[in-house]
Amino acid sequence: MVKICCIGAGYVGGPTMAVIALKCPAIEVAVVDISVSRINAWNSDQLPIYEPGLDAVVKECRGRNLFFSTDVEKHVQEADIVFVSVNTPTKTRGLGAGKAADLTYWESAARMIADVSKSDKIVVEKSTVPVKTAEAIEKILTHNSKGIKYQILSNPEFLAEGTAIQDLFHPDRVLIGGRETPGGQKAVQALKDVYAHWVPEDRILTTNLWSAELSKLAANAFLAQRISSVNAMSALCEATGADVTQVSYAVGKDSRIGPKFLNASVGFGGSCFQKDILNLVYICECNGLPEVAEYWKQVIKINDYQKSRFVNRVVSSMFNTVSNKKVAILGFAFKKDTGDTRETPAIDVCKGLLGDKARLSIYDPQVTEDQIQRDLTMNKFDWDHPVHLQPMSPTTVKQVSVVWDAYEAVKDAHGLCILTEWDEFKTLDFQRIYDNMQKPAFVFDGRNIVDAEKLRDIGFIVYSIGKPLDAWLKDMPAVA
Ligand code: NAD
Ligand code: UDX
Repeated sequence: MVKICCIGAGYVGGPTMAVIALKCPAIEVAVVDISVSRINAWNSDQLPIYEPGLDAVVKECRGRNLFFSTDVEKHVQEADIVFVSVNTPTKTRGLGAGKAADLTYWESAARMIADVSKSDKIVVEKSTVPVKTAEAIEKILTHNSKGIKYQILSNPEFLAEGTAIQDLFHPDRVLIGGRETPGGQKAVQALKDVYAHWVPEDRILTTNLWSAELSKLAANAFLAQRISSVNAMSALCEATGADVTQVSYAVGKDSRIGPKFLNASVGFGGSCFQKDILNLVYICECNGLPEVAEYWKQVIKINDYQKSRFVNRVVSSMFNTVSNKKVAILGFAFKKDTGDTRETPAIDVCKGLLGDKARLSIYDPQVTEDQIQRDLTMNKFDWDHPVHLQPMSPTTVKQVSVVWDAYEAVKDAHGLCILTEWDEFKTLDFQRIYDNMQKPAFVFDGRNIVDAEKLRDIGFIVYSIGKPLDAWLKDMPAVA
């Protein structure tokens, strides 16, 4: 029986390994982590992450050929294939701080593999890493090898949160990069054989190591760039009376462009896009390519601009001050169908409104009060360092209350901001909401999910990203 061990039981390690275990009953899969609380949660009925369809997959395999454990060394020692899916956050200090990937967690995992291994292993980079990381890992392993042979593969993960299980069941592609030596190609084939249990062969792409590593950064940069492009257009739409939904539909109809990932929003969030683009920028700078670095940096700049533009719109519409006004925040997760708040645009929007002394009442169906308080008090880039290493901040933001009901959040509020596109927000009773709000009542739709005309008929003043402005908003211009 082939044995797989995955180091890192997070948003990637957990779901990917659960799906491998489901699709390959003859393979034993152990997912290990240094976080005791995470592993306990994986072994309980309350999984540590919310992901549609994940519960069923885990229930079917756990205890059969899928195991979650904190005994990292034992499972690494026994495995033929070791996936490394630890976090690779942005460095917060030292060389490259604020841009470069922090490979501390990766390196300590690699050193531990070298320490405990007693048999040859294939080591798979599942984490997103800077191009050429495999070379560094190879050096750590071979300089400590005690005669053991290692093959390093790059197998970046392309799943998106909220749709992870479907993405893993039906991937657009699986990418495997390896050394172009007989040993390297044998390892590539071994990993191909795992995926071939359910992924059609023509969707399993093989490349050299550096292409696989770089393709992951490139794919995220291209996706984020589409969002920044449409968000840049949304600002121009508001200035000219064009409608961004109509513009992106017309643009996306060009088969060379395609319709996906063209939804204007309050800004993209999530643990990957910003981190990976900053990483790409840093690599370009280190390779003497400042023009290329500058090009990709702009994707982040537009994203920051979009978030601050939204805050400015809220404040300027409400007579240029939200001081002591209650503002309801519907949605805090970075997208629907996840409880993940890493780099969510809601953090910047809330901090912006708090900076203008608003009182916030926040509701998200999947995010806890502790998490929201932690996010609003944490320093930039600290979030991606393992949760168990982050003490709960002793301070809480007093102007913030977190409630478990949308109607409670909006009661007596002056304004309401929609920051996540949860389906349940589309079917709220907006007449009831209007009746319970201060007047004039404002809706700021950061996801373009409400029917603005219907809400205007009720009496709301409505701002939708990239849509023609009502007279009220035209009279209260926001300066970004
Ligand atoms: P995560 O923070 O949810 O999980 C990482 C886990 O690794 C944590 O539970 C942490 O405790 C554990 N860990 C860290 N060092 C360890 C060590 N030495 N030994 C054992 N466990 C250790 O992160 P994630 O979202 O799963 O992302 C993991 C990687 O995958 C990152 O490089 C990320 O960029 C990449 N990625 C993420 C996504 C996504 O949607 N989240 C998608 C594709 C790729
Ligand atoms: C992303 C990539 O899609 C995935 O391939 C990679 O493996 C990890 O990073 P994820 O961050 O989980 O996945 O979600 P994604 O669906 O890409 O959304 C990222 C952000 O962009 C969210 O905040 C989302 O709301 C926003 N977004 C997405 C838009 O604002 N407009 C869009 O059209 C699409």
